[in-house]
Amino acid sequence: MKQLTRREFLRRTSILAGTSYPAMLAMGMIPAAPAVSFRLEGESGGKEVVILGAGLAGLSAAYELGKLGYKCTILEARERAGGRCWSVRKGAVNEEVGLGVHTAGFDEGQYFNAGPSRIPHHHGLTLQYCKELNVSLQIYNNVNENSYYYAEGKGPLSNKKIRVREVHNDMRGWMAELLAKGMDGGKVDAGMSKEDTLKVIEYLRAEGGLDIDKLYKASARRGYVESPGAGDKEGRIGEPASLLAMLQSGLLDPDFYNVAEYTYELQGTLFQAIGGMDRIAAAFEQRLHSLIRYRSEVTSIHNLEQGVKIVYKDAAGEKTVQADFCICTIPLPVLSNIDHNFSSDASRAIDSVVYMNTGKIGLQFKRRFWEEDEGIYGGITHTNNQLTQIFYPSYDYLSGKGVLIGYYNFNDKAVATGNLSYQQREQLALDKGSLIHPQYRQEFESSFSVSWHKTKYNLGGWALYSAEERQSLYKPLLQPDKQVYFCGEHMTYLNAWMAGAFESSRSVVAALHSRVSGQSYVYPSLGS
Ligand code: ALA
Repeated sequence: MKQLTRREFLRRTSILAGTSYPAMLAMGMIPAAPAVSFRLEGESGGKEVVILGAGLAGLSAAYELGKLGYKCTILEARERAGGRCWSVRKGAVNEEVGLGVHTAGFDEGQYFNAGPSRIPHHHGLTLQYCKELNVSLQIYNNVNENSYYYAEGKGPLSNKKIRVREVHNDMRGWMAELLAKGMDGGKVDAGMSKEDTLKVIEYLRAEGGLDIDKLYKASARRGYVESPGAGDKEGRIGEPASLLAMLQSGLLDPDFYNVAEYTYELQGTLFQAIGGMDRIAAAFEQRLHSLIRYRSEVTSIHNLEQGVKIVYKDAAGEKTVQADFCICTIPLPVLSNIDHNFSSDASRAIDSVVYMNTGKIGLQFKRRFWEEDEGIYGGITHTNNQLTQIFYPSYDYLSGKGVLIGYYNFNDKAVATGNLSYQQREQLALDKGSLIHPQYRQEFESSFSVSWHKTKYNLGGWALYSAEERQSLYKPLLQPDKQVYFCGEHMTYLNAWMAGAFESSRSVVAALHSRVSGQSYVYPSLGS
C-alpha cells in the first residue's frame, strides 16, 4: 500500500471525515490537544439538577450544566464554597470534630493553601479552567536545593540542618562510585560489551561528579563553605557526608526518599493561582453565586420513582428539594453518615472507602527569615519528626511578613498531630520547627491548623484505593445510582488533585447529558 504523506493524510481526512481528529491523534500525527472549553450539543429539556457540595466538582458541574440550560441548585453545608480548595486568610473558620470552631488570626493579605497548593503542568483541564475563568497563575517552586534535610535524634548527622543540595549530590556521588567500581571490577555484570560498560562508567562519572579515578570527592555541586569571589577568593567546597553517616542518620529511610520530588505529578513545571488557590473556587463561585444555598447540610438523599428528593437543614430548619437528577460530591466518609436509599453495592462502597489522614499548619511570621537569613525561596524542608515537611511560600518573595506551612504530614503522624488541640499543634510546630529555624521563637505571630480527617464535612484528605478496591468499591460507584451520580476526586484515578474533581465532573455531566439528550457522549474521549 502506498504510504500517505502527512500532508496528504490531513488533506484527505479533513475533507472526507468529521472524525479524523481522533484518528490523527491515534496515529501520532498531531500532538494531543490541550484541554478546551467543554461544548456539548443537545437539549437539557429544562431538567433540574441538585448538586450536593460546592467544592470544585460541584461548582464545575453546575457551570457546565448551566451552559447547556439545566436548572441547577447547589447545596453547600459550609458558609463558603470551594471545599478543600481553600486558602486560609484572616477570619477563616474551620470546625474539627471534638475541637470546635477555630478562626484564623492572620494579617490582612497573608494566607496559606490548606488544601491544594500545586498544579502539575499536565493537568490540562485544571489549567484550562484557570484560563477560561481568568485565574492568573504563577510558577510553584516545589524543589529547592537550598532548603534542608533534618534528621532529629538519629545517627552522626543528628540534629544538623543539611542543605538539600549536599544530600542530593553526596548521595548521587556515593551511589555512582559504588556502581562504577562494581562495573569496573566486573562485579556488576549487565551483560554488556567492554565498550558499553566503559560508556556506562563515563555516564556515572558525569552524573555522580566522580573524579578521574571514579571516586567521589565532593564538588561545587554540593555548595561551598566559603563562597568564591573577587581576587584570590577561590571558594572552598565542603567535605562530603559519608554514605555510612547518611545511612545511620536515616537519610536513606522513607522519610527522606526523593521520590516525593520526582513522581509524575511533582515534576516541574508546577503552577499555583496568584493570590491563593481559592481564586479558582472563587472564580466559579462568582458566576454561580445565585445557585448556591450556603449553610445547607444534607441529611437525606432518596431516589424516587422519577427524580430525587433531598432533605437538608439550614438556619431556618428542615427543607426539602426535589429535582430530576442529583450530582453528589459529598466526600464518602461524610456521605456514609447521611440517610439514603442507594443500592447495597453503592452503600457498601460509600461505607468502606478509606481516606488519607493528613494535616497542615500555617505559621505567620513577622519577617521572612527563611529568605532573608537563609536564602530559601519556596520549596520544602524534609524531616523525620512529626512535621514531615515545612513548605516555604512560593509567592510574595522578599516582602515583609509571610506564612509558611509548618507541617504537612500524613498517616500516623497526621493522626497524632490531629489528636492535639489547636494550641498544642501550634506548640508542636514551633518546638520542632525551631530546631531547624531558631528564628521561629522571635518572629512567630499566629497559626492556623487543619486536620482534614477531623474536619467536619470532609473527614479525610482524599480517597485511597487498593487495586482490589478499584474493582470492588470504586467501579460500582462509577455507575449512577438511579438518578444520583457520584462525583469528585474520589471518582477518578487523580485522587488528591483538583484535576480529579474537574475530570469527574466532566465525566458525570457527559453521562447525565447523554441520558437526557439521547446523544451519546462518553467522556474523556471527547477531545478534551
Ligand atoms: N496533591 C497533593 C499534594 O500536592 C497530594 O500534596
